[in-house]
Amino acid sequence: MIDRERLERRAGELSRIAGRGTAVSRLGLSADEQRARELVSSWLAPRGAQVRRDAAANLFARLPGEGEAVLVGSHLDSVPEGGRFDGALGVLCAVEAVESLVDAKVKLRRPIEVVAWADEEGARFGVGLFGSTAAFGRLARGVGDRRDRDGTSIADALRALGERGDPSAARRDPKELAAYLELHIEQGPRLETAGVPLGIVSAIVGIYHARVSIHGRADHAGATVMTARADALAAASEIVLAVERIARSRLDSVGTVGEIAVRPGAKNVVPGECVFSLDLRAARDHDGLVREVLDTVTRIADARGVEASVDDLARVPATSLDSKIREVLRRATKSVGVDAPELVSGAGHDAQNPALSGVPTGMIFVRSTGGSHTPREFASIDDAALGAQALANAIKELAT
Ligand code: GLV
Ligand code: MN
Ligand code: MN
Repeated sequence: MIDRERLERRAGELSRIAGRGTAVSRLGLSADEQRARELVSSWLAPRGAQVRRDAAANLFARLPGEGEAVLVGSHLDSVPEGGRFDGALGVLCAVEAVESLVDAKVKLRRPIEVVAWADEEGARFGVGLFGSTAAFGRLARGVGDRRDRDGTSIADALRALGERGDPSAARRDPKELAAYLELHIEQGPRLETAGVPLGIVSAIVGIYHARVSIHGRADHAGATVMTARADALAAASEIVLAVERIARSRLDSVGTVGEIAVRPGAKNVVPGECVFSLDLRAARDHDGLVREVLDTVTRIADARGVEASVDDLARVPATSLDSKIREVLRRATKSVGVDAPELVSGAGHDAQNPALSGVPTGMIFVRSTGGSHTPREFASIDDAALGAQALANAIKELAT
């Protein structure tokens, strides 16, 4: 049985690492994320788990057994000014599920590994799903050289944590894994609206991340007539609105520009350069969405006489989750009295990497309110405990 009080107490402890009130700013590959890993290690090492960190700073805590392992977990990093539950709840519930099985002296045949993936959000270096992408050998070449705003590279950040700075060395053989399970808050209103505490994820949308740089020409804001300008920010603004229009016009698609920087950045200088992010997601025809937006970027830049260059950061295709694991999760959620609906996830998850590498993968969603990636995000301890119990039941079925 899940120990609800232990789960609640630990959620509080974890939320205080780089947390203030209900806000958490625990960026990936930071010292704060490392403190969170140490806290998780301190829970599982005394239960007999072998704890290790790999070359991409992922944490694994393994209880020994025979054959391929059941891997279960989520991530410990957050976006800046994020909430207490995105990622963290999945690690907390994985720990609680495993500990409840240890407490009950359940005989499991397979090894069980709890994982805390590093830098899922990609908030600092722009590379989301970083740790799981490395572990499944899916990192693009040269990722270690990507830098944050202060010029620190991913390789530098890993070295500061005591690693060698080569995240590709984290690669492990997916054939060592019998299954991957991840519990996560829903981050949307569907379970709340339906009045159901748990859901089962059927698929995760395709996600494209890029950084677009617009090069115009800096000039005097008073002395340069409107017809003689190559204003990088005006071009970027037209693109931002085009992204919104295109995403609105397509089925099951969203598009966001969430970061933008203007150089040189003075009120009396025509913007010479503008760099902004692109986040494009779709459950259907994701490639078509990306193509339409990138064609539009080129068209607007040409029409305005500025140069546009696009730096691809990540492209993860839409991912279906395993039908047999979905059945296991259906039984597991039924066993805690929940008739869990199947949902498509609009958020990206580390689960995409094992799924795309052929590991049978499933996800449980826990009802959440207040949106996500904000301090308002919230899941109740009752719902979290139900999710942890369902996760424990699924682990038991897959590992015995
Ligand atoms: C992760 O939270 C993402 O979907 O961006
Ligand atoms: Mn997130
Ligand atoms: Mn997450």
